[in-house]
Amino acid sequence: MDAKAKKLDAAKASLEFIEPGTVLGVGTGSTVNCLIELLPTVRERIDQLVSSSRATTKLLEEHGFEVSTLNEVGDLDLYIDGADEATKRLHLIKGGGGALTREKVLAGAARRFVCIIDDSKFVGMLGEFPLPVEVLPMAQAFVTRRFVKLRGQPVWREGFVTDNGNHIIDVHGLKISNPLEFESRLNQIPGIVTVGLFAQRPADILLIASDDGVRELRT
Ligand code: 5RP
Repeated sequence: MDAKAKKLDAAKASLEFIEPGTVLGVGTGSTVNCLIELLPTVRERIDQLVSSSRATTKLLEEHGFEVSTLNEVGDLDLYIDGADEATKRLHLIKGGGGALTREKVLAGAARRFVCIIDDSKFVGMLGEFPLPVEVLPMAQAFVTRRFVKLRGQPVWREGFVTDNGNHIIDVHGLKISNPLEFESRLNQIPGIVTVGLFAQRPADILLIASDDGVRELRT
C-alpha cells in the first residue's frame, strides 16, 4: 500500500470521532487534505469549522464549507491534524507545511486532538525530521545562533513566509529524548513564535495507518 492510500485510511478512521454537533478544527497538510475530501460525507454532523491555514481554508471552501474563526466559535470539540513524526507517548513534531503556529493554537483550544499519520512517521525518538521553528523575521539570525549552541543544525526555509508573516527555521540533527523539557526550554528563547514540538499538548488519540490496517493509540 502506498503512502497516499495509508493517509486516506487514517483520515477515514478519524471520521468516527466527529459526532453530531461537532465544532471541528481542521489541520494542514496532505493527510488532512485526504480528510477534507471525505468531510462532505459527514457534513450534517459538523456544526462549525475552524481552519489552521489559508491552504486548508481554501480547500474547505472549495468543498462548500463555511469556515469560522476561532474567536467566533470559542473552544473546539475536536481537532484533527497530521504530523511529521509521532511517538508512542503521542508527542509530535509538526510544521513541515509551515502552519505550526495556528495548528498549536487549535490543538490547545480542542477538547480532543486526533492525529492521523501513516506508519512511516511513527518513531522511537523525535528529531530525525528537522524541527520546524517559526520565528520573527528580525530574530532569525539570533535564534539560529541559539540553536547552534544547542548543537542543532538550523537551516532557514528560504523564501517561505508563514500565514502570520514570519520565517521558518528547520533544525536538523536534534535527538529529542525529553520533548516536554525541550519544548519548555525552547519556548524561553525570545523571537521564537512557535516550536513545532507538540509535547506539552500532545495528541489525545493517534491513528497510525499501515498495511495491516489502522492502529489506535491513546494517552
Ligand atoms: C503542517 C503540518 C502537517 O501536519 C505535517 O507537516 C504533516 O503533513 P503531511 O500530512 O503532508 O505529511 O504540521 O504544518
